[in-house]
Amino acid sequence: MRAKELTAEFGIAGVLDFIETEHGLVKAAISLGGIAGELYLQGAQVTAWRLPGERPVLFTSPKAVFVPGKAIRGGIPIVFPWFGPHRHAPTAPQHGFARTAPWHLDGVETAGAERLTLTLSLGNGDAGRQFWPEPFRAIYSVTFARALSLRLTVQNRATHPITFEEALHCYFAISDVTSVAISGLAGTTYVDKIQASRRKPQTAALVTVGAETDRVYLDTPTRCVIEDRGWRRRVVIKKNGAASTVVWNPWAEKGAAMADLGDPAWRGMVCVETGNIADDEVRLAARGEHQMSTVISVDAGT
Ligand code: BG6
Repeated sequence: MRAKELTAEFGIAGVLDFIETEHGLVKAAISLGGIAGELYLQGAQVTAWRLPGERPVLFTSPKAVFVPGKAIRGGIPIVFPWFGPHRHAPTAPQHGFARTAPWHLDGVETAGAERLTLTLSLGNGDAGRQFWPEPFRAIYSVTFARALSLRLTVQNRATHPITFEEALHCYFAISDVTSVAISGLAGTTYVDKIQASRRKPQTAALVTVGAETDRVYLDTPTRCVIEDRGWRRRVVIKKNGAASTVVWNPWAEKGAAMADLGDPAWRGMVCVETGNIADDEVRLAARGEHQMSTVISVDAGT
């Protein structure tokens, strides 16, 4: 559906508008008494969520490209049904097809002046059939409020079990990558993608980033926190139904070489992703349903 039709069906004057962007993508623009949000229908990708008087919580690259079929660098891409490169099909898109697929907007709900939920869906007829032929339906609900709540439900529509990986690939805006520390992962094991996927224990209480970092933490607790000394705030990430947590920053050389990121933008982001990856992949029984959710909130002035 195009912006005009979406506005006619779902628009709410002064609160929810749909905008056609320069290269033909459609985004929802949300405004709730100072809380602002933005979501692209391509990939059902949240690209902004801001609280009144606060710095942005999500990072969207100043060099992000907003064109049909290309992944947007920043916000919250949805990784599904595989994480990273496809295990057997080298031509399949990295991180699955959901992040570049056109999702359908199915519903809008408001509750009071400071809460709006968009519900979107994607089915197997929409994209990716050549790489993942399973019949499925994915339903994603995003609530913009003083916290940002995300819930991804995957339904297996097959009469056999299916297996998939998934992640809400959150890019967080931070003062500087060397000024943040992530708590909540101590005692877990991670797959170090920088070192031939070696498994390592997370012994230190805090994860800090001082070089290229690309880690899939397995079987992680339901809460982790980005402590940002530079901006004196804590971003709290709570999750359910999602065993894995990914921590990624490309660091100087790779970050500068990425056409849609560059230097110094790579310093101002860290990805802390909620998902089910590698050993934590989801095995879903015939006709089964799986749900993962995450709630992001901010404690300022710590
Ligand atoms: C992370 C992966 O989740 O996403 C990294 O662990 C990857 O390996 C990064 O480089 C970005 O991926 P992409 O496909 O958006 O460039």
